[in-house]
Amino acid sequence: MQARSLALRREGRRIGFVPTMGYLHDGHMALVRLARARSDIVVVSIFVNPTQFGPQEDLAKYPRDFERDEALCREAGTDIVFYPEAKDIYLTGHSVYVVEESLSRGLCGATRPGHFRGVATVVAKLFNIVLPDVAVFGEKDGQQLRVIRRMVRDLNFPVEIVAGPTVREPDGLAMSSRNKYLGPEERRQALCLRRALDRAEALTRDGVRETGSIRAAMQQVIAEAPLARVDYIEIVDDATLEPVKTVARPAMAALAVFVGKTRLIDNTVLRP
Ligand code: PAJ
Repeated sequence: MQARSLALRREGRRIGFVPTMGYLHDGHMALVRLARARSDIVVVSIFVNPTQFGPQEDLAKYPRDFERDEALCREAGTDIVFYPEAKDIYLTGHSVYVVEESLSRGLCGATRPGHFRGVATVVAKLFNIVLPDVAVFGEKDGQQLRVIRRMVRDLNFPVEIVAGPTVREPDGLAMSSRNKYLGPEERRQALCLRRALDRAEALTRDGVRETGSIRAAMQQVIAEAPLARVDYIEIVDDATLEPVKTVARPAMAALAVFVGKTRLIDNTVLRP
């Protein structure tokens, strides 16, 4: 892959890159289209990265369907699908990691220790292998997007980061490979995440600024779904990801909720 990218770059081609863990959906494909519009050659990686999963998490049962993924990639105008094996990405004795020490502390970083170390490490490795000019990430994983931007800035990666808006099912549920785990009743109740964000947006529009009351209202929406259990509901500064008491500048309302055994995340930016 690296040899091919070096050759393409020598020919003056602009490489666009979309890293994924596969089991692709329209959210991923929208990122591929963004990459397509900004480059000559589009590379999609499919790699279920073991280092970003905790010991009790769903690494072993994470959904996989390479044939379908490859067909979707081709349809969307992908030139190269990079599909490495874990043993080739993490050689025996692998001992170097990338640790972002500020943005990755809260939110998912607090309840998934080591998660962003795994994400930053694999994205740094993939950047060094694929050598992209531009890489596209989804706003659905708002904290991940910010951690990657910070890594690129602080470690001087010559890669432009482009953000793609969250793609949703018609009823508002954010698309996710993990939605596959949901049974029919769970799928219905999973709408509580989007509803909680709608509440937060409506309150902000009505002039409410205290994040305490906004969070309480979001909490209440989730409580109406009996199969849902809150992992976190936070309102943080959009740039620093530090919790804020009032929405005086753009703030990210972010939540992680277990619906049955499935952990779902979603977020929106609140603007005063
Ligand atoms: P994965 O969950 O497969 O997501 C790959 C990319 O698709 C990420 O940038 C994610 O934010 C984006 N994405 C997922 N659902 C989306 C949606 N509904 N709308 C728009 N974009 C969406 O995120 C990862 O994989 C991994 O952590 C990875 C970055 C590949 C590192 O292993």
